[in-house]
Amino acid sequence: MKVRGAVRPPGDKSITHRALMVASLVSGESVVRHPLTSVDARSTAACLRALGIAVGPLKPGAAVQVRGGAWRASSRTLHCGNSGTTARLLLGLLAARPFEARLSGDASLRRRPMRRVTVPLGQMGAEVREERGDGLPLRIRGGRLGPLDWTLPVATAQVKSALLFAGLVGGVAVTVREPVRSRDHTERMLRALGAPLTVRGATAALAAAPGWLADCPPLDWTVAGDASSAAFLVAAALLAESGELRIVDVGLNPTRTGFLAVLARMGASVERDAVRDQCGEPMGDLTVRPSPLHATDVTAGEIPSLVDEVPVLAVLASRAAGETVFREVGELRVKESDRLRLLAENLRAVGAAAEVSGNDLRVVGGERPPRGRVDTAGDHRLALAFSVLARLPGARVELSEHASMGVSYPGFLDDLDRITADV
Ligand code: S3P
Repeated sequence: MKVRGAVRPPGDKSITHRALMVASLVSGESVVRHPLTSVDARSTAACLRALGIAVGPLKPGAAVQVRGGAWRASSRTLHCGNSGTTARLLLGLLAARPFEARLSGDASLRRRPMRRVTVPLGQMGAEVREERGDGLPLRIRGGRLGPLDWTLPVATAQVKSALLFAGLVGGVAVTVREPVRSRDHTERMLRALGAPLTVRGATAALAAAPGWLADCPPLDWTVAGDASSAAFLVAAALLAESGELRIVDVGLNPTRTGFLAVLARMGASVERDAVRDQCGEPMGDLTVRPSPLHATDVTAGEIPSLVDEVPVLAVLASRAAGETVFREVGELRVKESDRLRLLAENLRAVGAAAEVSGNDLRVVGGERPPRGRVDTAGDHRLALAFSVLARLPGARVELSEHASMGVSYPGFLDDLDRITADV
């Protein structure tokens, strides 16, 4: 397999959700450029529309207009689809609204824990009624909120962002302390817009700023390319036998690029250049060359900066010399699927050696062409990661479905076709 050409990954999923949401809060017409237009982004847009906000259509290649301002109660359930970010961040935004909202999602999202958000929001003053225990569907009735100082046991940007959003809408101070800093797109966005937010180490503190939102002008926001989506392109290029791939306009926020540090240790040839600022976020181009890889140890402290890249890194580890260990990846059990179990099972299903021990994932690399059937469980990142493996010469890998790729990277298989050729 040869790799060639240049590709621009789709807009960043985390930044797109946040830009649409923040645009919905400020009065006037905002514009979000190069947004992600995938299924998950559409879930956020649809929920905001149900709350009375005019959000233009999300069309590939086009900017989206958002007319923000007053939110109104929705008599319909807010369907968050497959998107945990939509559900959790919306809960934060709804916590200070004087009405009730009901949130639900698809079968995968309904299984995911929500108390990590609703417990601190309850402490601030929101009322939450669960229908089936810790998860969706649930109802939230917002109200006057009090300030919050919250320590998270596990680093999570979704919870951190939800709490900061609740403070922003409620006009109260919120401090969130994490064991390790998770992705900081919310903090960067709010700071770029002039909100009174300070970040020290892994602590983000928003000062009480009632009235700040009313004075904030509409956004003109350009979304960087998604580093997590770019990671699948990087993987395809590393596993090729010859050639070179350029991946342009990739978000290079250090809280997202842990996978590049891990790949450098594994012997990968990935160069960054043209690094520039894009609405408060570093963005640049990557040049990737096929490289023989060797195993590494991925530490617990690194995980928050690559939490969504464990599937693709594990797939690469299955082609690397030696045993790679991912330490303390228990959070993967509550992602779009039980990624920890499914990664190990699927790697074994295609002939690789992989096991879960406690909260660690161990993968031993090999050279035999992967062959077997992969159960993606409808999880986009599993489908994307194993579809890279399926391209290897001699591979015979069958995926249980491909449609889930539309959650974050709808055109991935087309991009893969464009950048690879048999030699
Ligand atoms: C996200 C945060 C991460 C990540 C998810 C997107 C975000 O989840 O896995 O894909 O946009 O804040 P956690 O905050 O649960 O780690």
